[in-house]
Amino acid sequence: MSTNDKNGPFAEDTRLIHAGRAPEKFGGAVNIPPFRASTVLFPTLAALDAYDPALRTVRYGRTGNPSSHAFEAAMTELEEGHDAVSFASGLQAITSSLLAFARHGDHVLIADTAYGPTRSFANGILSRAGVTVEYFDPAIGAGITGLLRPTTRIVFLESPGSLTFEVQDVPAISAAVATVNPYIVVMIDNTWAAGLLFKPLKYGVHISIQSATKYVGGHSDASLGVAVCAHQDHWMRVKKAAIELGACASADELFLGLRGLRSLPVRMRRHHQSGLRVAQWLATRAEVTRVRHPALPSCPGHDLWKRDFTGACGLFAFEMEPVPRPALAAMVDGMAHFGMGYSWGGFESLILPSNPTPIRTAAPWTGGELIRLHIGLEDADDLIADLEAGFARLNAALEAK
Ligand SMILES: Cc1ncc(COP(=O)(O)O)c(C=O)c1O
Repeated sequence: MSTNDKNGPFAEDTRLIHAGRAPEKFGGAVNIPPFRASTVLFPTLAALDAYDPALRTVRYGRTGNPSSHAFEAAMTELEEGHDAVSFASGLQAITSSLLAFARHGDHVLIADTAYGPTRSFANGILSRAGVTVEYFDPAIGAGITGLLRPTTRIVFLESPGSLTFEVQDVPAISAAVATVNPYIVVMIDNTWAAGLLFKPLKYGVHISIQSATKYVGGHSDASLGVAVCAHQDHWMRVKKAAIELGACASADELFLGLRGLRSLPVRMRRHHQSGLRVAQWLATRAEVTRVRHPALPSCPGHDLWKRDFTGACGLFAFEMEPVPRPALAAMVDGMAHFGMGYSWGGFESLILPSNPTPIRTAAPWTGGELIRLHIGLEDADDLIADLEAGFARLNAALEAK
């Protein structure tokens, strides 16, 4: 459901300025004020009886309210979907969407690139509920049909992977799955593309999930998730699961998500430019054995990125030969602009040494020392100088050994 009632073929940047807004309903306020309410009063019994979540009537704060409705309408516009469900976090959007469809005895296929906590949920709660979880090589493409079973219920993708950055052939996978069994639900974690750089629902994916904590919020100060569905029946299932699980987003976080969304395209263009610049510079460095940035040919699935995506965000990784921990510490402990921390998608740059080995099973990790970077909105030359100084500290520590 989109509340964008402006007619005409407007560009996406323009549509995202209007999406979900309704100044006439809120005293003319440009932004929808956070709707902080649990109890909602009904003036009559007829109004009480008229509640219907699909019509966006309000019964109780947790089950849907003007803040969540506005955010969901805006995210539906962004992802070019049918309707959306908002959640308190990206992980809650993922787990609730999986629980909405997986039943005891079902088989669920998950790309080996999936974010660690997605795997933890699948290996823990989902498996304990009697669901068989199987991981697949992200390069599988249409070969996914070889893994489908009569009990397969969900195929879950994360493209590119948010740690190792393999781009998947989403159109081929969803088409192949639909040919064998159109009832299998194809879901994707679309956080890297922020819903802007890739439109999975156009390519046969049924549910596009995002951690809006990342680029949509954009300021590292909100926790928010969303599942955008291509079809009403899927939306009803996810919405019902959210209600049964008590899952909901807070009005303040929804407000921040909507506010962040207005500047998303502008920020993403800058993340793209600076990220690519830093990635290209890293590719020239002797210390670096491989750059995993989907816009560079050295990244697995680069051709698919070129075909399906309209740009890149600021998140990518590079590899080095393994180095002793103290030498790595000499490099990353002294950064001037890169903070060391989890998450990404904010205005600030981050550096994170990571080891993908424990979260790879179908396509084991064979790369070297992995450093993930988030390139924020700082000046790219300053970021390159910071990394250059980091490499100098690394080399000095290696020589001093
Ligand atoms: C790819 C990806 N998906 C989902 C999540 C979960 O998001 P949240 O922290 O909003 O639960 C993250 C968080 O880091 C992520 O990187």
